[in-house]
Amino acid sequence: MRGTVPGRGGTAYPVPSERPRRLRATPALRRMVAQTRLHPAELVLPVFVRDGIDEPHPISSMPGVVQHTPASLLVAAREAVDAGVGGIMVFGVPRDADKDATGSCGTAPGGVLNQALTSLRETLGDDTVLMSDLCLDEFTDHGHCGVLDDRGRVDNDATLARYAEMAVVQADAGAHVVAPSGMMDGQVRVVRQALDEAGHQDVSVLAYTAKYASGCYGPFREAVGSTLRGDRSTYQQDPANRTESLRELRLDLDEGADLVMVKPALPYLDVLSDVAALADVPVAAYQVSGEYAMIEAAVGHGWLDRDRMVLETLTSIRRAGAQVVLSYYAVHAARLLGGSRG
Ligand code: PBG
Repeated sequence: MRGTVPGRGGTAYPVPSERPRRLRATPALRRMVAQTRLHPAELVLPVFVRDGIDEPHPISSMPGVVQHTPASLLVAAREAVDAGVGGIMVFGVPRDADKDATGSCGTAPGGVLNQALTSLRETLGDDTVLMSDLCLDEFTDHGHCGVLDDRGRVDNDATLARYAEMAVVQADAGAHVVAPSGMMDGQVRVVRQALDEAGHQDVSVLAYTAKYASGCYGPFREAVGSTLRGDRSTYQQDPANRTESLRELRLDLDEGADLVMVKPALPYLDVLSDVAALADVPVAAYQVSGEYAMIEAAVGHGWLDRDRMVLETLTSIRRAGAQVVLSYYAVHAARLLGGSRG
């Protein structure tokens, strides 16, 4: 019979029959039974490279993150690889004067992003996974992710042709993975077909599958010098919706996505869990600029402990089902984890 403990006024309370706390008693026990582990190889560092600056330029809403010069980018990328980080996602920031309605500097082989990809691939070879943001918003003067029709709306099908062109230029420049992030319908199929026709059968497509119209991208807009007025609600998903992500997943898998992504991460762990349950390709999640900024702001006030928050948020994103996590903390986390290559 189970024992009791004496309670108030002569009552007896049963002692617990099960004791989950046993497995929490020592660090060694906790380590042994931990279900989710972080490894630097699963972390991807997003980086920004800006045309026309002589030294790295701080991003005020993302303390500790900078817009790189082409030269400082190479140093930072090498550091990330040496810290054990698994991949690098590159975003380009052109000069304002180079922006136009169709984002032509995004497809110019000499454009800031394509140049950076070329030199990163030359410097790093296959030491890391070189990923490239495939979207027009950094390059258009109106700041939208696609080209506009004569009424100023984002023209889905006209944008697809631009993405196809961009995919080939990025693959030519040396990207191992291209990441269409514009949420145009049919973008994965078109990008896959364009890559195959250009002989880039070995270049993978990381689809931004479930990408929500989120307030969490605020600091990113500063990071890429975005000129956007208004929002992206006609092409990015409504935060109110959950099952829609499964539809986006079905389409991206049908269209040939090699990896799929959910973004942002922490406010969308339910979506991430749904997608991870059904995807038969690796699932990535993006801890975006606003998620980074929230932690940094609180750390700056002395309200949160940075290292704990970094490890806890990344662990939660992994636990919800992400196999790969994009994070501005990738290098910091890799160092906390004592990561090394191999
Ligand atoms: C669009 C793009 C965005 C981000 C990545 N790709 C911005 C947007 O959709 O408005 C945001 C990433 C971040 O906030 O860290 N090309």
